[in-house]
Amino acid sequence: MVELMLAVLAVTAGVEKGTWGQAKGDDVVMKEAAADAKPPMTAKYRDAKLPIEERIDDLMTFLTDEEKTRLMHATGVKTAADLPRVGLEPYRMIDGPGGPRDRNTVYFPEPISWAASRDTNLVYEIGRALAEETRGMYDERLVTTMLLGPGINLARTPAGARNFEYMGEDPVLSGKIAAADIRGMQSRRVSPSLKHYFCNDQEAYRTVLDVICGERPFRELYGRAFEVCVKESHPWCIMNSYNGVNGRYTSHAAEENDLLKEWGFDGMLVSDWGGAHGAVRAFNSGTTLESCTGPNEKRDREEAQLMREGKLAPKRVDAAVRANLRTYFRMGLFDRETEEIKALNAECVKLYKSEAHRELAKKAAVEGTVLLENKGNFLPLEKGKVKTIAVTGPWATVQFSCIKEKNKAPNHHGGEGVCADEEFGFLDGIKKYFGAENVVYDPEHETDAAAKADVVVFCTGTDHWEDREVNGWGIIHPHDRATLKIKGEDAEARLKAVAKANPNCIVALIHGGPIDVSGWVDDVKAVFAMWYPGIDAGGCLGRMMFGDDEPGGRLPYTFADRLEDWPCHRKGEKVYPGVLLEEKGIFEAREWYDDGIWVGYRGFDHFGTKPRYPFGYGLGYTTFETKNVETGPDSISFEIVNTGKRRGKAVVECYIEKHPEDGTEVPVKELVDFAVFRLEPGESVKHAFTPGPGAFRYWKDGAGWKPCEGRLILRY
Ligand code: BGC
Repeated sequence: MVELMLAVLAVTAGVEKGTWGQAKGDDVVMKEAAADAKPPMTAKYRDAKLPIEERIDDLMTFLTDEEKTRLMHATGVKTAADLPRVGLEPYRMIDGPGGPRDRNTVYFPEPISWAASRDTNLVYEIGRALAEETRGMYDERLVTTMLLGPGINLARTPAGARNFEYMGEDPVLSGKIAAADIRGMQSRRVSPSLKHYFCNDQEAYRTVLDVICGERPFRELYGRAFEVCVKESHPWCIMNSYNGVNGRYTSHAAEENDLLKEWGFDGMLVSDWGGAHGAVRAFNSGTTLESCTGPNEKRDREEAQLMREGKLAPKRVDAAVRANLRTYFRMGLFDRETEEIKALNAECVKLYKSEAHRELAKKAAVEGTVLLENKGNFLPLEKGKVKTIAVTGPWATVQFSCIKEKNKAPNHHGGEGVCADEEFGFLDGIKKYFGAENVVYDPEHETDAAAKADVVVFCTGTDHWEDREVNGWGIIHPHDRATLKIKGEDAEARLKAVAKANPNCIVALIHGGPIDVSGWVDDVKAVFAMWYPGIDAGGCLGRMMFGDDEPGGRLPYTFADRLEDWPCHRKGEKVYPGVLLEEKGIFEAREWYDDGIWVGYRGFDHFGTKPRYPFGYGLGYTTFETKNVETGPDSISFEIVNTGKRRGKAVVECYIEKHPEDGTEVPVKELVDFAVFRLEPGESVKHAFTPGPGAFRYWKDGAGWKPCEGRLILRY
């Protein structure tokens, strides 16, 4: 954080200079006089009952030029909007996607798990609860009404260190899951900050990287995730990324920033922290708030003067101030004294760290867990038959949230760090679930302990030293994950020895990205991919092992054994992680997205690479069949039946196979929609997917979107 702050200071010190300081014109003097007076209490903008646009129109008439430019800068590291003259008091923003950082809070599973759940209703509930945790930290002085997430950069590389914060490798999955989260947050009048727009798909070099990305991958993948999300949730705020794309920083990418408006975005566009890279240029390119700056009257005056000279486009300033005010009205900042906002705050204070949130967090962990292996239907276990469970492995006693140093937990880092008020690791959670007297933990003699138990659980994976935001500025190592293996030099050998001692071995994985399971998967009976499951890893695992709950997740990205299985890892460092530049200019590294649209399963399908577990894969405890499938020109309807003996969750995905007339190469299949059904044995339900015209098109460079025929396919 210190490095980040120094970098931020360096950047803000570089604010472009205006020519203020000469004699003031009359209009300025008049406006300054007006600036001393408070607008009347009867001013229209103060009336909470009026439509927001009318309130903005009115408020704009009271603002001086200097106040307008002031409203385009943050007032501190995580605060903004200090203009008491018009009744605007600062609010606090807080990181991040998996829940509010820095304060004690309920530990929800990380967002990659939400994507695995495929359940937009559940994710809406999560978003709403996270907003309640955020607003519920309420103190009289500073209300917290912005949660800096969700993030929807794509898992272009399995090594990406922030993959756990994002929503996988597919733009439609990412966009829809993030939209559900945002709708939930906004229902509590907490603003999201959807991030990081755009092409911030790795941590390596992220602050100084210039990504060379073609129009098609942007339109069909990296920008598409944002398009889907914006159209489905109308987020109140979006965050630019640190990196550049095609020779300019994203905060200076006017065309792509304006594209957001075409998709329906009308809120605040904030730079990543210290990432405006020159505020005036950023404002002229559509950025509306420079983050992480302080109050600075001289700067405000200089920028107001630049505006009068036309060097800071007055239209941009006007649009930016309106956008920021719109977000502030939506968050209720001008209406703090109304009964509505007081009641909302009081309700959130009550729900903050509530039992209801804890239960939701546990449910979410189960719904997001993917069962990768279950040989011979080893699971679910029968309670009466299993008397003792041995728990072991490197992560048996580790906690993954950031306040608890006990057990030397590898802590959360950076934008995503959650400070949990409570976290049960695997051992504690399983003891709580199964009775401490029935659980054995003996790390000194783990194979002996395993041999004596009926079942052994080996807890392993990666941690937040690898799955994390890389803090600081410049060329920083280490950055992304170096390997797909479970962490620890002896971890695989330990796992194999334990599985040899007791073949009834279940592996529980904690991880942000795909894991190479090739070295040990043949030795074990079952494997759970649990991501970062939050409050109660062990309790949730116990419930799934014994079938009280069914693991409900499907993979949000492909699992394969080797980095080279991903196209971006096959073509040398130019394509990932990028090369250092001799002629530095403004960037110090450059990377070519030469893998084009062949990202994730699109790449595996296209090159015929066999994945270990494909995108969408995940086992359950029952079986399903579809019948009466009928395909129309733009829709597909079907009935899904639970043909097994247990209640279960079906996840049906709808893909399109496109047929462009001009022979343009397209992916074998592309996800266009998905739905979740929970059915009793023998029960069935009918459903139809109608993905809309956004699905039946492909991008042709130079010609734009072209409509095409396509066949819809179901996978479940
Ligand atoms: C991260 C953002 C985060 C911001 C504020 C940046 O370093 O990239 O994701 O929201 O810091 O903490």
